[in-house]
Amino acid sequence: KSVDDLGDLRGKRVVIRCDFNVPLDGDKITDDGRIKAALPTLTQLHEAGARVTVLAHLGRPKGEVNPKFSLAPVAKRLGELMNLDVKLAEDVVGPSAQELSKSLADGDICLVENVRFEPGETSKDAAERLDLAKKYAEFGEYYVSNGFGVVHRKQASVYDLSKLLPNAAGSLVAKEVEVLEGLTAEPKRPFVVVLGGAKVADKLAVIDNLLKVADTLVIGGGMLFTFLKAQGYEVGKSLVDDASIETCKKYLEQAEATSKQILLPTDVRVAADVDFDAHTVGQVDVVPVDAIPADKMGLDIGPETEKAYAAAIEQATSVFWNGPMGVFEIKGLEQGTKTVAEALTKVDGLSVVGGGDSASAVRALGFDDDQFGHISTGGGASLELMEGKELPGIAVLKENN
Ligand code: 3PG
Repeated sequence: KSVDDLGDLRGKRVVIRCDFNVPLDGDKITDDGRIKAALPTLTQLHEAGARVTVLAHLGRPKGEVNPKFSLAPVAKRLGELMNLDVKLAEDVVGPSAQELSKSLADGDICLVENVRFEPGETSKDAAERLDLAKKYAEFGEYYVSNGFGVVHRKQASVYDLSKLLPNAAGSLVAKEVEVLEGLTAEPKRPFVVVLGGAKVADKLAVIDNLLKVADTLVIGGGMLFTFLKAQGYEVGKSLVDDASIETCKKYLEQAEATSKQILLPTDVRVAADVDFDAHTVGQVDVVPVDAIPADKMGLDIGPETEKAYAAAIEQATSVFWNGPMGVFEIKGLEQGTKTVAEALTKVDGLSVVGGGDSASAVRALGFDDDQFGHISTGGGASLELMEGKELPGIAVLKENN
């Protein structure tokens, strides 16, 4: 169901889940793409005269109130973008949230605090989640699911709440599912998946399924050094997930046996001094993968690799890219990610950028959203869809309609 199917919403109370998990530098939002992506549905609800309470999370505060993860910067930015006074409750389901939600006039929008301040939100215990979801349900007569980036999580505001109220998918969720399911159901081949990013173990775990759908897998980011180690190279001080070396060997054999391709770097950019917090790096050298110095850390793919990756991407008809190639936030280590982004803009077919970090990367590197076929707001969610998994937050909408 879409929001239109909910009928006349004037004066009706609506609770909506959004994914406002935006990157912050202190209390400054460095990429507001996820907030902008939610605007069509929020504007529709506002114009329809609904009284809207927004549920959202920021970071992983682990069930405890932590001002570092307050949604205050999000409420402020949302208000600016919508030209509305968007108030933020001081708590999630306590007196402040209840009072604020009840005080809304037609067309008003408010936020309650980070839902992950409540232990029930991410609890594995279904009864605990349901108790919290019942409190969320007091914020509305209808539920709208619009947080695509979080639909792969079986959490109270994403999953359990959907069962308690008449629900609809917001236009962001509907569009994301349409594009991404279209890509996986019948990808126009060759289908290239580019995988990078820093969450090494998480990303390595999805390769199994991606090898089933993609023709070529292009590997960058943190996980590439575990692959290089699996190929027998020394990788100096680079990030390696030792527990996954055998798995990487298995993937390489699996690819060969099924005539799939796993592309790995032939050269990398390395440095001895890097400060991830201060975003600075000392001298950066390019070295072949068989000559990574023992005292240096691999931080990006090298120029020869960039060329090979760009060629593989440009000849594809469908491309899905998740995760930066290197530490693009640091000047001098952005080149691999930039080259991959540029190659995606040249694809004659469908190019999809998936994931918060990749979306932020392309914007930070000066690309426009419309240079790509689709920029997904979901990281883990888009990857799980690519893998052909059923996402709890989508399945529950279909079941309870
Ligand atoms: C994301 O940033 O991918 C989503 O907001 C989900 O966040 P999570 O991985 O902490 O559940």
